Amino acid sequence: MKLPLFLSSGPADTHEDFSELVQRDRVHGATYTSQAVFDAEMSRIFHRTWLCVGHEAEIPNAGDFRVTRLGRQSAIMVRGSDGKVRVVMNRCRHRGVSLTEEETGCQKRFTCPYHGWVYDNTGELLSVPDLSGYGDLNFAEYSLTPVPRLGTYRGFVFASLSEKGVSLDEHLGLAKGYMDLFLDVSPIGQIDVRSGVNKTTFRANWKFVGMDGYHPNYVHKTVYEVRRRKQPAGVTASSKGEAFSDESANLTRDLGNGHAMLDVYPVRSANYTDYLESMKGKPGWDEYYQSMVTAYGQQRADEILVWAGDPHIGVFPNLQLIGSQIRLIRPVAADQTEVLMFPTLLQGVPDPINQLRLRNHEAFYGPASQGSPDDVEIFERNQVGLSADVDPWVLLARGLDRERVDADGSIVGSITDEVTQRGQLKQWKALMGAKA
Ligand code: FES
Ligand SMILES: [Fe+2]
Repeated sequence: MKLPLFLSSGPADTHEDFSELVQRDRVHGATYTSQAVFDAEMSRIFHRTWLCVGHEAEIPNAGDFRVTRLGRQSAIMVRGSDGKVRVVMNRCRHRGVSLTEEETGCQKRFTCPYHGWVYDNTGELLSVPDLSGYGDLNFAEYSLTPVPRLGTYRGFVFASLSEKGVSLDEHLGLAKGYMDLFLDVSPIGQIDVRSGVNKTTFRANWKFVGMDGYHPNYVHKTVYEVRRRKQPAGVTASSKGEAFSDESANLTRDLGNGHAMLDVYPVRSANYTDYLESMKGKPGWDEYYQSMVTAYGQQRADEILVWAGDPHIGVFPNLQLIGSQIRLIRPVAADQTEVLMFPTLLQGVPDPINQLRLRNHEAFYGPASQGSPDDVEIFERNQVGLSADVDPWVLLARGLDRERVDADGSIVGSITDEVTQRGQLKQWKALMGAKA
């Protein structure tokens, strides 16, 4: 499949200070609509901080690769024939032509289409046609360019286009514990990411794709009504309707560094016994449950399984772990965004458990599903609404006076509060001041 040709280097950073667009209780519409702000986001956020490139499980075999974008720059995540995962710029070292326009594939070598330079899948330059014209070319100096910084956390691959900055460990902070939960739903802590990807491009700003616990009962009203009707007796409180009301025990959580989540543990936990009862005897379930208890012990297994039903974790700026999907957000312009959703499978579980994961993903997040298309409509309507700038400030104040600091240092509020938006925009504000 061909990649869309929308890459451009964009204008140089104006060094204008945009941090005042976000204030304690409100945010200026230009944060979402201004192309100048978008250009600054590319240089100050996407070309500087840690971005998630994907997960190593997407490329399990030697030569497997995926082409990705780091802000405006094209890069290749590739597993070399030495087994090592690298992220290199998708740029020939001769005169800079992109080495592949395929989105994904498996290759021993990358051959530049312009003059035929050939690179190994480890990035090493292997051959140059008509070499004599160069005199004494030192091949070792012309390997594919690696990203300045590369890091992994449990198979999640992160890259930074800046040589300087906080370590990946420091950047991820509290988000790591929740990434663990996403993976530990497998009794061997491993996922498969080879079930394809569903993609959406929409006419709205990338920051709308956030963690919002206030909208489900309105945007997804019909879905939840249908689900509630179909629910077996006794499992009522795991329905979304209760999960996302202001009376719910569920929480919004600001994990720091722009990471934020909808914490649906409290309601799911209260209904866990009923949930287990409803799952008993379902294909593959008993075997799966027992393997979780054997792997992690009863208490941790139950804790993971409470979480497993509905994670909503945002890792700033471009990764989200929602349901069973790894979601990558690619800003294209102030008013255009591409979202890639990779449904994941669990290693070490009976097939029916994975089939259930896929069916659940398709039902809510697939292209013709009950959920995502409605979200996208709201994002686009948000963009339309904010094009009116006569009174440009919008609210960011919900729950401001009732948020509190939790034992782990995260900031929590009611599930309907704007704790998550404030957390994400706090990091945005910190990065969007005049460039040093
Ligand atoms: S630009 Fe790649 S070989 Fe010339
Ligand atoms: Fe939604």
